Amino acid sequence: METKIMDAKSGLSFAASLIQSGQLVAFPTETVYGLGANALDADACRDIFLAKGRPADNPLIVHIPHRENVDEMISTPLSELVNQLLEAYWPGPLTIVVPASGVVPLVVRGGLDTVAIRCPDHPVAQALMELSARPIAAPSANRSGRPSPTTAEDVYEDLMGRIPLILDAGCTVFGLESTVVDVTRDPPVLLRPGAITRQQLEEFLGPVVLADNGTTARAPGMKYRHYAPSAPVWWWNTSDVEELRTRWDALEKHSGRPYALLASQETQRALRPALFYNLGDNDRTVAQNMFHGLRTLDRYHPAAIIVCWAQSSGLGEAILNRLRKAAELGDAGDADGN
Ligand code: TXA
Ligand code: MG
Repeated sequence: METKIMDAKSGLSFAASLIQSGQLVAFPTETVYGLGANALDADACRDIFLAKGRPADNPLIVHIPHRENVDEMISTPLSELVNQLLEAYWPGPLTIVVPASGVVPLVVRGGLDTVAIRCPDHPVAQALMELSARPIAAPSANRSGRPSPTTAEDVYEDLMGRIPLILDAGCTVFGLESTVVDVTRDPPVLLRPGAITRQQLEEFLGPVVLADNGTTARAPGMKYRHYAPSAPVWWWNTSDVEELRTRWDALEKHSGRPYALLASQETQRALRPALFYNLGDNDRTVAQNMFHGLRTLDRYHPAAIIVCWAQSSGLGEAILNRLRKAAELGDAGDADGN
C-alpha cells in the first residue's frame, strides 16, 4: 500500500472519506500523532491493531469532538466532579476511563467493560471528526513499543506501507501523550501521567492515586514495553554540569562507537558530543522534544543515548514516566499506552 503524506488542510476531505469507508488515517493532535479509524466500526479498529502490531488486549482511546458526545458512550452518568474536570480541561490532553455503554465495540475496549475517552484540542483532529461525522478511535501512530510520533515523518518511519494517509500539520505541541485517569474507581487512579498534572486532577477529584502493579489488570497498556529506540537509553538525573562532565569523560574512554547526547544546549557546550539533539531547558520543551530526539539520535546507531534531565514535579512526572520506560528502569508506579 502506498502511504501518502498530505498537508492537513488539503488532505482533510480525503481523510474524512477514508475514515467513513473504514480505512485508517494518521492525524495530528496537540499531544502526539494518532492512528485513527471510525470508533464505531469494529473491522476498521481491528486494522489499527494490525498496522501497529499492537496486542489485542490493549484498548484504544475514543476521540470525540464535543463533551456532550460522551453521554452516548457511557453506561452510568458522570459525577458532578468529573463533569467539572472535563469542563476545565476539555478539549485538551486529558483522557478519562469510564463505564462503557454498548456503543463502542469490544475490540476498541480490548475486551474491557470500560472505555477511554478524550476530546482533543487540535483543529485538524476536530475537523476530521466533524467532517467524517464519526468518533475516532486512535492510539499513538507508532509501531508498538516505539516512541510516540510527534511529526508526520515519525509516523511515516513506522507505518510506511501500512496505512493510506498521514495528515501533516508539523510538530505537536505537548509531545507526550495525554494524561489518563480512571474515574470508575474511588479514589480515581492515574494510569498515565501527562500534561494535565496529578495536582490539577486533584483540585477537582480529591486524592488521586498513581497506578501500581495491582492496577495492571485494569490498565493493560502498562505491562508492555514502550518508547524504546534500538540504542540503549541511559538517564542522568542531574543538571550539575561538573558531575555531567565527569561522567561523560569516563564514558568516552571505553567506547569505540560515539555516544549520543539528548540534553540542553548548555550541557552540549560543556560536553561537546559528536551526536546531539536539543531538549531545551525547561520541562515544556523537554516533553515536546524527547520522543523526536530519541528517534533522531537512534538513526545514527550510537553506543547509547544519554538523556540529561533533572527530575522535577508537575509535568516532570510525565517526563519521568516516559524516560523510565525508554531506559527500561522499570517502576511499579508507571503506566502508559503503546
Ligand atoms: O495523547 C494521547 O492520548 C494519544 C493521542 C493520539 O490522543 N493517544 C494515545 O493512545 O496515546 P495510546 O493507545 O497510545 O494510549 C492509550 C492508553 C493505553 O495505555 C491504554 O492501555 C489505556 O490508554 N487505555 C485505553 N482504554 C483503557 C481502558 N478502558 N482502561 C484502562 N486503560 C485504558
Ligand atoms: Mg501509544
